[in-house]
Amino acid sequence: MTVISIASTKGGVGKTTLSRIIAATLAEERADFAVIDADPNDALGRWKAKFYEGAPFDLVSEPNHDRLAHLIERLSREREIVLVDTAGFDNPAANIALTFSDAVLIPIMADEADMEGAKQTWLRCRAIALGVRREIPAWVVLNATKTISQVHQHILAELGRLSASCGLRWLETKLSNLVAYSEISWSGALPARGPAVREIRHLVEELREKGILPPAAT
Ligand SMILES: Nc1ncnc2c1ncn2[C@@H]1O[C@H](COP(=O)(O)OP(=O)(O)OP(=O)(O)O)[C@@H](O)[C@H]1O
Ligand SMILES: [Mg+2]
Repeated sequence: MTVISIASTKGGVGKTTLSRIIAATLAEERADFAVIDADPNDALGRWKAKFYEGAPFDLVSEPNHDRLAHLIERLSREREIVLVDTAGFDNPAANIALTFSDAVLIPIMADEADMEGAKQTWLRCRAIALGVRREIPAWVVLNATKTISQVHQHILAELGRLSASCGLRWLETKLSNLVAYSEISWSGALPARGPAVREIRHLVEELREKGILPPAAT
């Protein structure tokens, strides 16, 4: 069992988008996984109920943070992978999800506040790791990037500084700023063509290379 949380104290950075991409890909692969929407706004739950048309998978919406702990504990015994989408503010549910997590993905877009949210979330993982007496591995995921922009250079410079000062690390795979990613929220389907297809494949490959996701079932 592997529990992966997608978290940031900053809202609107792509947590639910990343959750949709990973969930739909795992469903395509018929992986043994379940998804928890721990965000009271239930964006992921609504998406699954209203739009998602891919291979079936189980999703439970649980906005209550105490029940969330029991749910993660149970599903982590029953499934190979549990994916938890969390709310975009500093909240008990996200912190509880972190205590269970074998890996945490922290998306950021181009804004300075996103970087600050990532830093706070990274430091929270380290703080909780002390209490649970084990490492809580975390990676920043660069989302909605515009790699040729000056903004991207700021992001890379800040990542470098945070890497040096507090060990923060990030995935090599970057998700570009593409309508295809917004479209998933309305269509329920993964992109069928274009650069997003390649980026999603690279993302999942990297998650496997780093041991964040277990190997695909053969
Ligand atoms: N790579 C991307 N390219 C273009 N648009 C994106 C990308 N990632 C996310 N978006 C859009 O950005 C907005 C915020 O994304 P999303 O809802 O996934 O963020 P979130 O972190 O889950 O937000 P919240 O904190 O409110 O839960 C959405 O409109 C989404 O479609
Ligand atoms: Mg969300």
